Amino acid sequence: MADLSINLAGIKSPNPFWLASAPPTNSGYQVQRAFEAGWGGAVWKTLGDPILNVSSRFAAVSFNGQRVAGFNNIELITDRPLDVNLKEIYETKKRFPNHAIIASLMVEPKQEKWHEIVKRVEDVGVDGLELNFGCPHGMAERGMGAASGQVPALVERQTFWVKEVAKTPVIVKLTPNITDITATAEAAVNGGADAVSMINTINSLAGVDLDTWNTIPHVAGKGAHGGYCGPAVKPIALNMVAECARNSRINVPISGIGGISNWQDAVEFLLMGATGVQVCTAAMHHGFRIVEDMIEGLSHYLDSKGIASVSDIIGKSVSRYSDWGNLDLNYNIVAKINTDVCINCNKCHIACEDTSHQCIDMLTDANGKSYLKVREEDCVGCNLCSIVCPVDGAIDMIEVPSELPPMTWNQRQAALKLKAECKVDIKG
Ligand SMILES: Cc1cc2nc3c(=O)[nH]c(=O)nc-3n(C[C@H](O)[C@H](O)[C@H](O)COP(=O)(O)O)c2cc1C
Repeated sequence: MADLSINLAGIKSPNPFWLASAPPTNSGYQVQRAFEAGWGGAVWKTLGDPILNVSSRFAAVSFNGQRVAGFNNIELITDRPLDVNLKEIYETKKRFPNHAIIASLMVEPKQEKWHEIVKRVEDVGVDGLELNFGCPHGMAERGMGAASGQVPALVERQTFWVKEVAKTPVIVKLTPNITDITATAEAAVNGGADAVSMINTINSLAGVDLDTWNTIPHVAGKGAHGGYCGPAVKPIALNMVAECARNSRINVPISGIGGISNWQDAVEFLLMGATGVQVCTAAMHHGFRIVEDMIEGLSHYLDSKGIASVSDIIGKSVSRYSDWGNLDLNYNIVAKINTDVCINCNKCHIACEDTSHQCIDMLTDANGKSYLKVREEDCVGCNLCSIVCPVDGAIDMIEVPSELPPMTWNQRQAALKLKAECKVDIKG
């Protein structure tokens, strides 16, 4: 059986599956039950000065029968006294010495505040720290969370203050509510971060009630923006992990978070450069025991590929992710409809006709039976027909060998520039 253990910047855990800092890691009772269920690590619900929460905090965005396609919350950090949390962390670590417990921290952007809380949590034996520069609501108005996390200089300075006193590895958790997450990731690295984690939640409003005209959720008729997470955010999180993983200046491990619901999602994050993953919404939706399938699925996946250790797949897809300008303009695929599998629902024809390149013809065979056929010379390989097709295997996207050698946009522009310069030289 493959070795699933990971070592993220010195933080060791028996498997790559950690619970993210959130309601599932609110107390010792919960984290201990999570470890019993199989989670390899837990990032404790963010510690700081206890806050007051509002009642009515969560909302789900359902889509096409999926109850929780996205999840929205207006919860703040822990509302339990620091002493109580510290006592429970100590007890949990004593019971589970080989599991990773990371203290998530959020305090005012003051050096002495960071020094104080770091010392207190390290005294109870945490394996690492995660600085929460991501919470998008409530704390931001007080200068914390995303308010700090959107300003690279503040990320760097506060990370530096933590590193002045920290004895355990420091992970900086980044907000996605920023144009370029690599700017804050780099700032964290410059401040001395041992790792970065991403993403925290994305600014959101889950919905508006059509009868009452209240926001969803609302608190006594008033709403406020919340943080969005769950399956819907996975592509956004995966891209942010990939952008950081391929940036050579961000040369620290990444803990991947955002929409991870099963072992396949986790493998995608690992391939895109995450050393381990964190999960919140999926655990809130289905309970701690989902980790059993995650462990089993990952283990079988690695065994079936003859891979000895989970660390052997980390980052294997990073070099395959690049800028658009580096993609081969002469690579071509076309759609091929398999008439023996096609159910003639015409969804591909409608999609292509109305919103793509009008290259699927409706034809009639000798027996008067209608069928669909792609005019390959007009197909641009956009994939839309295969995306809307409800039947697996009815449409394949096939590579068409090109007569031209590979050429990217960047190579084309460089060649054109050279040509222009040569002309200038010749004229000159
Ligand atoms: C109700 C709720 C509360 C959360 N509280 C925290 C928190 O206290 N600290 C923190 O760093 N992230 C917090 N998060 C964000 C999660 O840790 C995680 O970054 C985010 O939910 C994305 O992961 P997911 O898609 O698996 O849920 C919270 C998320 C939810 C849903």
